[in-house]
Amino acid sequence: MAITKMITSLIVAVAENNVIGKDNDLIWRLPNDMKFFRTTTLNHHIITGRKNYISIPEKYRPLANRTNIVLTRQSDFTEEGCIVSHSLEDAITYARENNETELFIIGGGQIYKEALEKDLIDRMYVTHVHQAFDGDTFFPEIDTNKWKNISETNNPADEKHQYPYSFTVYEKLK
Ligand SMILES: NC(=O)c1ccc[n+]([C@@H]2O[C@H](COP(=O)([O-])OP(=O)(O)OC[C@H]3O[C@@H](n4cnc5c(N)ncnc54)[C@H](OP(=O)(O)O)[C@@H]3O)[C@@H](O)[C@H]2O)c1
Repeated sequence: MAITKMITSLIVAVAENNVIGKDNDLIWRLPNDMKFFRTTTLNHHIITGRKNYISIPEKYRPLANRTNIVLTRQSDFTEEGCIVSHSLEDAITYARENNETELFIIGGGQIYKEALEKDLIDRMYVTHVHQAFDGDTFFPEIDTNKWKNISETNNPADEKHQYPYSFTVYEKLK
């Protein structure tokens, strides 16, 4: 079987103090970031931790027009319209074997941490939210010796976006 070359990316929105969530929910509302998430991940495989998946409002899950892979250690977990996987490596292999070109890890905190610690990520799409928040879930500190910022678009706060934010892409330094 011919297997396509695939890169593994993650996509996240991070506060100034590295907070990404609280009480199994997102904290801020930034419609342009939601749009960016949707257009970036559309038609790709996505990998999500079970907690992040459950936090998505029911009417929006599985995320449409994407192959949703849910990671859980529960052997009896099933979810209609999703692939269920019991290891991050198996989930990545599943996407590769299905001819994915860019796989997206979409969180939450446990899954980002494991993927970065195991050095499984090639590219990171990070929306930096320029505000600190109280939260209980964090993104690891980005090591600038390991990651090169290859693009950045800064956006001011406006009537629909309470905080300024930047769309940033990092690639792993070879
Ligand atoms: N700001 C952002 O961009 C962003 C993005 C995504 C999520 N979030 C936030 O992050 C929070 C959720 O993150 P979280 O860290 O609590 O949970 P999570 O990473 O979404 O999910 C954790 C769950 O995934 C499963 N899991 C973890 N590692 C696994 C492994 N190696 N193999 C198999 N299954 C594994 C386990 O499920 P079982 O318990 O079922 O075994 C575990 O309880 C929420 O607040 C959410 O809003 C923020």
